Amino acid sequence: MSGDLRLGVNIDHVATIRNARGGAHPDPLRAAQVAAQAGADGITAHLREDRRHIGDGDIARLRAEIDLPLNLEMAATEEMLAVALRHAPHAACIVPEKREERTTEGGLDAKGGFDHLAPFVARLGDAGIRVSLFIEPDPVQLDAAKALGAPVVELHTGAYCDATGAAERLVQLDRVRRAAAHAEAIGLECHAGHGLTYGTVEAVAAISTIRELNIGHFLIGEAIFGGLEAAILRMRLLMGEARAAAKG
Ligand code: PXP
Repeated sequence: MSGDLRLGVNIDHVATIRNARGGAHPDPLRAAQVAAQAGADGITAHLREDRRHIGDGDIARLRAEIDLPLNLEMAATEEMLAVALRHAPHAACIVPEKREERTTEGGLDAKGGFDHLAPFVARLGDAGIRVSLFIEPDPVQLDAAKALGAPVVELHTGAYCDATGAAERLVQLDRVRRAAAHAEAIGLECHAGHGLTYGTVEAVAAISTIRELNIGHFLIGEAIFGGLEAAILRMRLLMGEARAAAKG
């Protein structure tokens, strides 16, 4: 672990490459094993409604064969709820899949979708699955997540990572910082993810109230050039160094 900051490795895009040919290679389960060896704290996988990357069989194999906690990213649908209840992952992160479920920037609209989301948060929680909501770093969305009874939020770092220009990036980083502080103030555990790279991870890792980062696409991309284990080890190193430096 990077001190008190966990790393969840998202293996979706190993399945994207596999599915491009329709066969069994490369196997996301093998990626999860490598991630475990490299010191990941958890595996994250998003079972999409269209199964464009991870499939149902992958989820079953991850649960049966990988000891690390599984964080299942899922839309708030009856179909996905049934999958989650069947496989009982350690955690479920509710994400938007359809445009109308999103805020303007791309996180889940916890406030606008409150009535729809409430029973999903409750039923997952009742089953002992730790629920997080993938939301924009926006206090309105954080307050809605709290009111929904979710114990965890995952802050969408896409606007920060995609910012063009240093000034805009600082504005977006400040949003993440303030949201992480607000999460702590209202008693929510705070995670973050989407779009993180070697170049963007340190500033987020330095935010002491963020407890977990979920990173996928960049790591799988880097794995093409230097191997998955090396990519994860380097990411962990950067996370750990940034966290230690922030503590002073
Ligand atoms: N967290 C959540 C909730 C996600 O949906 C994703 C995938 O989009 C990630 C983290 C990982 O994002 P990325 O693949 O860009 O690292």
